[in-house]
Amino acid sequence: MEHSVAGHLGLDLGTSRIVLASTQGDRTQYKTELNAFVSLPYSKMTKAMLERENIHHTKSGNEILAFGNRVDEFANILGGDTRRPMKTGVLNPNEPRNIEMLALALGKLCGRAKNGEKICFSVPSGANGSDAEVIYHEQSIRKVLEDLGYEVHSLNEGLAVIIAELKDHDFTGIGISFGAGMCNVCLSYLGLPVIAFSTTRGGDYIDYSASSVTGETPTTVRLTKESDAFKLNGKASTSVDQALSVYYRDIVQTVVLTLERILNNHKQLPPFRGPLPVVFGGGTAMVEGFHDELRKALQKVKLPIEIMDVRKAKYGMNSTATGALVAALADM
Ligand SMILES: Nc1ncnc2c1ncn2[C@@H]1O[C@H](COP(=O)(O)OP(=O)(O)OP(=O)(O)O)[C@@H](O)[C@H]1O
Ligand SMILES: [Mg+2]
Repeated sequence: MEHSVAGHLGLDLGTSRIVLASTQGDRTQYKTELNAFVSLPYSKMTKAMLERENIHHTKSGNEILAFGNRVDEFANILGGDTRRPMKTGVLNPNEPRNIEMLALALGKLCGRAKNGEKICFSVPSGANGSDAEVIYHEQSIRKVLEDLGYEVHSLNEGLAVIIAELKDHDFTGIGISFGAGMCNVCLSYLGLPVIAFSTTRGGDYIDYSASSVTGETPTTVRLTKESDAFKLNGKASTSVDQALSVYYRDIVQTVVLTLERILNNHKQLPPFRGPLPVVFGGGTAMVEGFHDELRKALQKVKLPIEIMDVRKAKYGMNSTATGALVAALADM
């Protein structure tokens, strides 16, 4: 149902999940939607069912497009996968309805701005050092949010993690968001991004790779990965567990080795006055054992900076949205 959220907003527009952060008195409130949709054949009965169940949807010709948290259920019934408006951090070029679906989702989730409230949304760093796709993505989403009446700002995802988590360290350190489409990394000095990059191996890469080597569907793999039963502790009992462990390590290695290469090639680093904290968030980092894996990987590489500690984000999967909200409120 359409609703409005008072005040300024922080939006984490992720490849697999959209998180909206807002303030409610002195508390921060979060709303999450799966960034996925399904197309159903139009009938009055289907439309009535979606309305009854409170599932976001829109009629388009002779189909109904249903969006958000509950579409997994339909994907299973229909025997297919859900469709995704985004891929590797940006608009999915293979999904013709990408912007249309995001406009629907953001309209429902954020509502219209009443008095030109501010919204700050997260954008990734370009993959392989190229910004071209991010520029198009950023401008397209900006337009959708402006059409809803907001004053729109954007914020790099890695920097958002730092803004949410490293206030006690003057926003100086390394922030990493381990997401579905990407991992975003930012090295910040007093809140200024010195280096920001992304890798395109994230949770989706784990799902598709583990699926292709085990013969299970990506959805089955994902559900195993998200269940409490799976732990990253070297004790894999099934082939899916074994494949998941391999690709989780692959993701951590890719981030850490890229960080090593980029930091060592960077000509002039700021005058850091001591060791730096590394803070990590995002859904892919939620699995038990991830913290140890990352800490060990960082110990093995040679960086031109000293690491103070490796911290799990206090805000966990809401870290990016929290940083975006702080930025919207602080006029950053
Ligand atoms: N409880 C959980 N345990 C393990 N993995 C999880 C859990 N919940 C979500 N995930 C995984 O985390 C990923 C989503 O994380 P997140 O929401 O941080 O990504 P995103 O912001 O949508 O993507 P990106 O930042 O790459 O655009 C998915 O791959 C999902 O399967
Ligand atoms: Mg993310």
